[in-house]
Amino acid sequence: MSLSGAPVVLPDEGATEAAGAAMAHLDGLRIVYLEGNLGVGKTTWVRGLLRALGHQGNVRSPTYTLVEPYELAGRSVLHFDLYRLGDPEELEYLGVREAFGDGALWLVEWPERGYGWLPAADLVVHLAHRAEPRQGRELWLEGPYAGAARATLAGPG
Ligand SMILES: Nc1ncnc2c1ncn2[C@@H]1O[C@H](COP(=O)(O)OP(=O)(O)OP(=O)(O)O)[C@@H](O)[C@H]1O
Ligand SMILES: [Mg+2]
Repeated sequence: MSLSGAPVVLPDEGATEAAGAAMAHLDGLRIVYLEGNLGVGKTTWVRGLLRALGHQGNVRSPTYTLVEPYELAGRSVLHFDLYRLGDPEELEYLGVREAFGDGALWLVEWPERGYGWLPAADLVVHLAHRAEPRQGRELWLEGPYAGAARATLAGPG
């Protein structure tokens, strides 16, 4: 993936959650890829989005079950963590492809493990640790919804 444009700086965990929350209501969004290293904040971003849709309580990455389903605001939301996926073919047995056709929103951590099986991303959220200062994160957006997603972060000012 080519990263273009200036990154959005996320100084703390709350900023990562707020970024997820901001993008929760993007009209027509179907599938988001969350890219970035271990522990960079992908689940944090997902938690922000899920809570903005009304989810209360914890959000754990479904590391062993691969997918965690939610019903929020009248819509199915599927949170994937493909870190431990051996073969994209295993996704076939989850029986989730039909849900995508029915309009579910998919949020996918470690999408690179599922290439070839996953639908193409509407939005790629790429997170990285900041080099300097050595805290906080940076966020890049790619894909057809990148412009609309970036606009949600612009704030009221
Ligand atoms: N902008 C930020 N600045 C500093 N710390 C952050 C930021 N966003 C998230 N974190 C912290 O990063 C840690 C890891 O977050 P998280 O579990 O969301 O990462 P992940 O990318 O989902 O990891 P994994 O690859 O294991 O699934 C958490 O302690 C979280 O609080
Ligand atoms: Mg995670």
